Amino acid sequence: ERIELGRFEHYMQKEIHEQPESLRMTLSGRVDSRTANITLGGLTNFERQLSHFKRVLLFGCGSAWHAGLIGEYLIEELAELPTEVQYSSELRYRNPLIEEGTLAIAISQSGETADTLAALHEVRTRGATVLGIVNNVGSTIARETDAGVYLHVGPEIGVASTKAFLGQVTVLSMLAVYLGRRKHLSRDTISTFLSELERIPEAIEQTLLLESQMREIAYKFSGRQNWLYLGRGINYPTALEGALKLKEVSYIHAEGLPAAEMKHGPIAMIDEGMPVVVIATRDVTYQKILSNMEEVRSRGGEVIAIVNQPDAQIERLAKNVVVVPRTQPMLSPLVASVPLQLLAYHAALSRGLDVDKPRNLAKSVTVE
Ligand code: G6P
Repeated sequence: ERIELGRFEHYMQKEIHEQPESLRMTLSGRVDSRTANITLGGLTNFERQLSHFKRVLLFGCGSAWHAGLIGEYLIEELAELPTEVQYSSELRYRNPLIEEGTLAIAISQSGETADTLAALHEVRTRGATVLGIVNNVGSTIARETDAGVYLHVGPEIGVASTKAFLGQVTVLSMLAVYLGRRKHLSRDTISTFLSELERIPEAIEQTLLLESQMREIAYKFSGRQNWLYLGRGINYPTALEGALKLKEVSYIHAEGLPAAEMKHGPIAMIDEGMPVVVIATRDVTYQKILSNMEEVRSRGGEVIAIVNQPDAQIERLAKNVVVVPRTQPMLSPLVASVPLQLLAYHAALSRGLDVDKPRNLAKSVTVE
């Protein structure tokens, strides 16, 4: 085990640091910004059919479901296909209306999650074509889907998903362009988006340099038992994932919210010194999220802001400012998630917990 861990203390830390390399593998041979081409080997036999799909249904559990929520934004924006995201465990017990032309996509790191497998069977019975976005090659879900795209991020040992989650988001961004390229996306738009995607591993490398800052923030706040994570748009799911990471490994209660929803209830929780992580990377919602930060600050909350272009307003509103590299706004979850992983990891360590063996959790849940 020690040899495998190399210079790292835990698999979670090792896998967080591996992410630039993992995502290079995910993108390798698939994306070429120069020619504006995407090659997804697993879908080659499927290519003709793809243009017939009219809507997309994504499903998964845990972090895979969060990746699906990000995928929803990407597919609606880039492929202009109405997209729905479901928890596998819920999908199965409702009456999922699978209309003709539905492309269902199962998202799973392990490829063995019982709820996702059961949902796959349910939507298939109802006539959907099912693709898989899976890491574990040859796993049950990979075998049972009609076709799919592997993550290729390598085995993930840490119970709390890190590199697989980013791998899922990366595959979904490729898939969104892949589905959109025959429709309205121009060659230039594709080429620009893909070159931004190719730069993500490097941006994550830079983001990893924030580890000591995240460690400091974690130690400062890990005594607080309630945290909020706020984001808007495509970074609302980033907030959900950040909160889940913290819960999984540090047992601190955290809630992720679309920032504007805070005023409809959760704002009552904010008291002096409550840590509130706000993802405020630049996009159309930036000014709005500044007002949400103001709401937190004026009630005594301590804002931890994840930004990619700091300005005087941020400095005024947040005592803790974490600056990540700028990216194409739709790709910002890939970078903004990294400091949140580091925050959860160090919060757990500061509480003396074993991040690789969090209580009550299993890497893959094979019971329904
Ligand atoms: C478990 C893991 C989570 C994971 C979820 C879905 O609960 O602890 O980290 O996100 O299962 O797993 P899957 O293998 O289907 O992605």
